[in-house]
Amino acid sequence: MVEAVSPHASVNSQAHHGDEHYANHLAGVNETRAVVSTGDIYNERGVLVMKAGARLDKSVYAKIKKHQLAESLASQVSVDGTLNRDTLAEEFRRLLGTYLDVQIISETLKLRPELDAIVRSYAINPVTAQKLTVFKHQYPQSFDGVLLGAWLAALIARVHGCSRGDVTDAFVAALCRDLGLLHIDPAIVHKTEELNPAEWRALQSHTIVSKMILQSTSSASGDVLRAIVEHHERGHGLGYPAGIFGDGISLLGRIVGLADTMQAVRIGRFERDKRNLADMMPTLNINALNFGDDVYRAVMEMLRGGGVPPTLDECAQRGDGTTLSAVEGGWQKLAKVSSFLETLTGVLGTMQESDALKRMKAITKQIETVVTRSGLLTEEMGQWLSQCQGKTLAPEDGRVICEMELMISELKWQLRDARKAYDQLFSTIKDNTSPALKALQKMADELSHALDPQ
Ligand SMILES: [Fe+2]
Repeated sequence: MVEAVSPHASVNSQAHHGDEHYANHLAGVNETRAVVSTGDIYNERGVLVMKAGARLDKSVYAKIKKHQLAESLASQVSVDGTLNRDTLAEEFRRLLGTYLDVQIISETLKLRPELDAIVRSYAINPVTAQKLTVFKHQYPQSFDGVLLGAWLAALIARVHGCSRGDVTDAFVAALCRDLGLLHIDPAIVHKTEELNPAEWRALQSHTIVSKMILQSTSSASGDVLRAIVEHHERGHGLGYPAGIFGDGISLLGRIVGLADTMQAVRIGRFERDKRNLADMMPTLNINALNFGDDVYRAVMEMLRGGGVPPTLDECAQRGDGTTLSAVEGGWQKLAKVSSFLETLTGVLGTMQESDALKRMKAITKQIETVVTRSGLLTEEMGQWLSQCQGKTLAPEDGRVICEMELMISELKWQLRDARKAYDQLFSTIKDNTSPALKALQKMADELSHALDPQ
C-alpha cells in the first residue's frame, strides 16, 4: 500500500456511520457492474487506501473496511448503470405493470399523469441515485416495496389535498425511507427469526441513518427529513425510533408510514392470496388511530373510488366453511389476548411508577382502544360466529366473515408489535426481580404463545 497523505486530511475526520456495510454492498454490486473509485481515496489520517480508477472488489473491501475514511465512500465511487430520471421512471412503469390494481386506481382517479410528472421531474442527487441503485441490486425484493411505497405516498398525499410541493415531498421521503438499511449489518436485515433487543435497536436506526444520508447529500426539506425519521412511528405509540403517540407525528410522516404499511401488506400478505389493494379497507379500519383520521379518510376515499372491486365478494361466495373455522380460531385466540391486556393493566397499576412503566401503560391503553374500536371481540360477535358454524351462509354474512379474517390478521400483527415493545421495555428496567415484573413477563410470554401460528 502506498503511503500518501491527502490534501484533505484534516477537512473531514468525522465517522461515517455504517460505511463498512455499505462498502461490502458496493463490493457485491461490483460483481455484476463496475464500482470504480473516482479519485484517490484516503483514510482520516491522510493515508491512501484506494487508488483512483480501481474497482471496488472483495479484496479492496477487505482492505478499506479496516479504515475510517476521510470522506464518505459513496461520494468517491461511481456505480455503472446508476439510476437516473429516465431509468427511475422506467422502474415505476414496470411496477405499475406488475401491480395492476395500483395502476387502475391511479388512472381511475386521473392522477397518473400528475404522478408521472413528479417522477420525471425529480432532481435526484447522485449519491441518493447511487444508494437506490445499490439497494435495488442488493435487496431486489424490498426495492419494489420502496417504489410502491413512494407511489402510494404521493397518491395518498394528492387525494388528501396536499399541495404539489407536499406531494413531491411525500414521494421523495418514501423513496428514500429505507436507504439507511444499506448501512446496517445484512445479517440483521435478512434475519427471519425474532431479533434480539440489540439487533432490533440496530434495525430501527435505519430511520435516522436514512435521514442522515439525505441531509448530507441533498437539499431535502425539513418536512422530508422528518417524514423519513417518522415513517415507522405509529399513533398507538408502538412505532419507532421515538415511540411518538397520536398527533405528535407529522402529516407527511403519517402518510409515508401508511404507504409503507400498505405496500408491506400488498406485497407481503396479499400477493400470495391474490388479494388487491381494495381488500385493505378492513385492515385500515384497525389502523385508523395509527395514521390519523384525516389520512385514514383520504385513503378510504382513494380505495372506494379507485375502480378496483375488493376480492372479498369472491371470498364470501366460496362459503366452504374453511374461512369461518379459521376466523373462529383466530377470534378465540384474540379474545384470550384481550383478557391478558386487561390483567396487564391491573398489574401495571400496582407497580411503582417509572418511565418504562408509564410507557407500558400508555401502550397497553392504546392497544386496548384499537381492540375495542375494531368491534371484533364483543360477546355478541363470539355468539354470532358460533351460530354460523354448520350453516349455509348468506353472501352478506360470508362477506363479514372474510372482512373479519383480514381484521384479525391485522390485529395479530399489531399485538406482535406490542409484544416487541414490552420486551424492549423489560430490557430497560434495572430491578427485574420484583414479583409484579415477573408476572408481567410471564403474561407477555403467554401473549406471544397465543399469537403463534399453529
Ligand atoms: Fe423503513
